[in-house]
Amino acid sequence: MEWFEDEGLWRELYPYVFPAERVAAAEGQVTQIVALTGVASGAVLDLCCGPGRHAVEFARRGFSVTGVDRSGFLLERARESAEAADVAVEWVRDDMREFARPGAFDLACNLFTSFGYFAREEDNLRVLRNVGESLRDGGTFVMDMVGRERMERQGMEPRETRFADGAVLAQQPHVNADWTRLENEWTVVKGGRSRGYRFEHYLYSGPGLEERLLKSGFASVRLYGDLGGSPYGPEARRLVAVARKAHGRPSGRPAS
Ligand SMILES: C[S@@+](CC[C@H](N)C(=O)[O-])C[C@H]1O[C@@H](n2cnc3c(N)ncnc32)[C@H](O)[C@@H]1O
Repeated sequence: MEWFEDEGLWRELYPYVFPAERVAAAEGQVTQIVALTGVASGAVLDLCCGPGRHAVEFARRGFSVTGVDRSGFLLERARESAEAADVAVEWVRDDMREFARPGAFDLACNLFTSFGYFAREEDNLRVLRNVGESLRDGGTFVMDMVGRERMERQGMEPRETRFADGAVLAQQPHVNADWTRLENEWTVVKGGRSRGYRFEHYLYSGPGLEERLLKSGFASVRLYGDLGGSPYGPEARRLVAVARKAHGRPSGRPAS
């Protein structure tokens, strides 16, 4: 089983991956995405929506929203959140390698490092092609992830976070020799018990991500250092890409 297929991992790490402050931050992030893309209405795809923190916020603003995720546990949290906010969202349990709905969306999002999970790069490219296919002509795709440049600057220092429930989370990142993949070891110590988890995904540089988006058929790509639109450079906190699908060309026979 791949790490991301482990429902136990999402269930057990839920309080530490999605603490209340992180859920609350989604409101401001959606404001930033709307400002960054200029897409203020229409149909949105939240690909790898998790507990639906962005999907629910988009729905609150009147977007028509589809949230896709492969975790039944996280989709259940998303459903509860939509119900509490009294908004309608279409939740789809599917794998990002499979989900495609031709021409259906004005905006697609893949947020909080939800990309590059597959060891075969061809599978990751397939996800980008699926998103391109699912956008209408001229549609926009926003990706937000940790970038390689940031990890190079930050180094592989371990990090510890203490949570309100008394748990301590220790994070130890590692990279492979050519810096293409990041492996994160997490240890949660709570009530005298300790449990380990492991995640692994590709670590893209800004130009590397841009190249993959263009190769997958997007017409243009802009890179930023966060969702607020700061420049992508050595000091960037995040790697954010805004990719546009080409406007359709008029079809039919040329005039004779
Ligand atoms: C780091 S979480 C981000 C969740 C959400 N985007 C957010 O910002 O809160 C990554 C998400 O990707 C989902 N995921 C992992 N592998 C997937 C796959 N193959 N297909 C669809 N979703 C997947 C996980 O279930 C999880 O919800």
